[in-house]
Amino acid sequence: MSFQGVDHVGVGVGDIDEAIAFYGRHVGFDRVLFDWTGELTSVEAFAGRAPHARVAMLESSSATPIGPGRVKLVQILDSDDPPPVPAGQAWGEVGVCEICLHVRNVGEVHAALVAAGCEELMPAQSSAVVPHDIALDISYVADPWGTKLELIEWTGLWRSLPGPARAEGVNHVAFGVTEMARTRAFYERLGFTELLFESVDFFDPMAPWYEAPWYDPGNLPAQHMTMPMSSQGAAIEPVVLDPPGPDCRGEWGHLGPMDFGIRVASIDAATAELRADGIEVHGEPQTIDLGGGREWRTVAFAEPDGNYVSLVEARY
Ligand SMILES: [Fe+2]
Repeated sequence: MSFQGVDHVGVGVGDIDEAIAFYGRHVGFDRVLFDWTGELTSVEAFAGRAPHARVAMLESSSATPIGPGRVKLVQILDSDDPPPVPAGQAWGEVGVCEICLHVRNVGEVHAALVAAGCEELMPAQSSAVVPHDIALDISYVADPWGTKLELIEWTGLWRSLPGPARAEGVNHVAFGVTEMARTRAFYERLGFTELLFESVDFFDPMAPWYEAPWYDPGNLPAQHMTMPMSSQGAAIEPVVLDPPGPDCRGEWGHLGPMDFGIRVASIDAATAELRADGIEVHGEPQTIDLGGGREWRTVAFAEPDGNYVSLVEARY
């Protein structure tokens, strides 16, 4: 079966017009693949209702094979205020916690995003990951709605296409889980078979993010991170904190990164295959007619920790 990696990361925003403009102008997601408003029956199992929402799928015209993923902006329209960022979220609690963009020249892109109004969360630095000693440049900023954006250039893997400093598309999505072996086995079944790195060391530059009263800053949890890659699409970065932090899945559609989609060639075949493996799929795929022969199909399914994950079959 053809599972094709992470298709997109879903981000809740308070004003989708502002967010489309911001992500288009400053983060490289300059193509709006669709901009749709309606009832999302596909996430009923996550949201407890079929939320009335506006959804915009953005693609980067600078996307590369290592920065291929899209961003899905979501604005909840059936409540007065958007659901807030889950309280106590530092990084690695159960729930989606970051979007990582592959970029050409981390330092320059980081400076440009800070100049555009992003909060600096971690200055640019060079590092390497075990066990293959793959070099990378890394930094973090927060978008105006609080989403942690990691900027990475996998200098040990790929130096990007020629051209100016720029953000590409999504390289990976990070999310918290509770049992790494169970998560690895589950996502391996979905095509995430190649392990880029595994780390059990706390990444010290993240320490300021872990705040009281949810954490004891003098006694931070251990971080177990892995990055399983699929041969296509963006990667996943599951994280286990020990001891675990609060449940930060939040209400579906909350501000900040909150769900992700896995691309499949045939959603009907993939759904049948998941069910045959005993994986719970929530209802039948929702088909959204985007006009002009374009179509978006999606269905939610149950992953081991209840993170909000869907399958996506798209024709744009
Ligand atoms: Fe990451």
